[in-house]
Amino acid sequence: MCVLFAVLALVVSIQAIPGAHAAETRYLQRAPSADGIGKRYMGREISAVMGWQGAAWLERSAREQEERTDLLLAALALRPGLHVADIGAGTGYLARRIAAAVAPHGKVYAVDVQPQMVRLLETRAAAEGLTNLLPSLGAPADVGLPAGVVDIALMVDVYHELEFPHEVLASILRALKPDGRVVFVEYRAEDPAVPIKALHKMSVAQIRREAEVHALDWERTVDTLPWQHLVVFRKRQASP
Ligand SMILES: C[S@@+](CC[C@H](N)C(=O)[O-])C[C@H]1O[C@@H](n2cnc3c(N)ncnc32)[C@H](O)[C@@H]1O
Repeated sequence: MCVLFAVLALVVSIQAIPGAHAAETRYLQRAPSADGIGKRYMGREISAVMGWQGAAWLERSAREQEERTDLLLAALALRPGLHVADIGAGTGYLARRIAAAVAPHGKVYAVDVQPQMVRLLETRAAAEGLTNLLPSLGAPADVGLPAGVVDIALMVDVYHELEFPHEVLASILRALKPDGRVVFVEYRAEDPAVPIKALHKMSVAQIRREAEVHALDWERTVDTLPWQHLVVFRKRQASP
């Protein structure tokens, strides 16, 4: 009898979670490959998260030259006053540079799901005196930002490792202003010469497939970076 009640309680509690059934059917679970978590979404396996122990790689001195982060930042057309969300900000390599570009009145919401990364970012931001950089700890399925405040939401080398890509993207859309943009920067899966493991790369076709199930319209793809493409989507305007 106790077991019966426990099962009934579980069924009731799952049904009480909004979207729980959709989330169950959206993803498939298989045996994980070496670099993945076994969970599949729209034909790809989600990669394992890059642990905070690898944080030094994000800050390596060769990064600007290898990834031309100067061109990446230029492609965002940053200007003072913009409100930017860096989702999966890691140590804040990009968030710190963006904070300087949008100061004094603009701000950067720097969200990460690993508390250790958030602490590393806080330490670096404080050392650089960046008062317009706002670090926060996100949940695996929700970035936790206020609604309607973000001009540009950026994910650099992040989207492929989101455990709940659909839900996180939906939470990003809620945080966007009506004319806001989402920018994906991913290592090019189309190019075998890019020296990154397969599950940590994404093709433009796959990014578009996953983004366009949301109210997002593709705007442009930037192909000037050595290893990555930068794909920009604009939030679809609600019809009158
Ligand atoms: C490869 S690192 C990239 C860091 C940073 N964007 C950069 O380019 O320097 C990926 C980051 O995404 C974070 N991440 C993974 N899943 C996340 C989620 N659901 N919400 C927020 N951050 C997440 C990881 O903790 C990690 O810090």
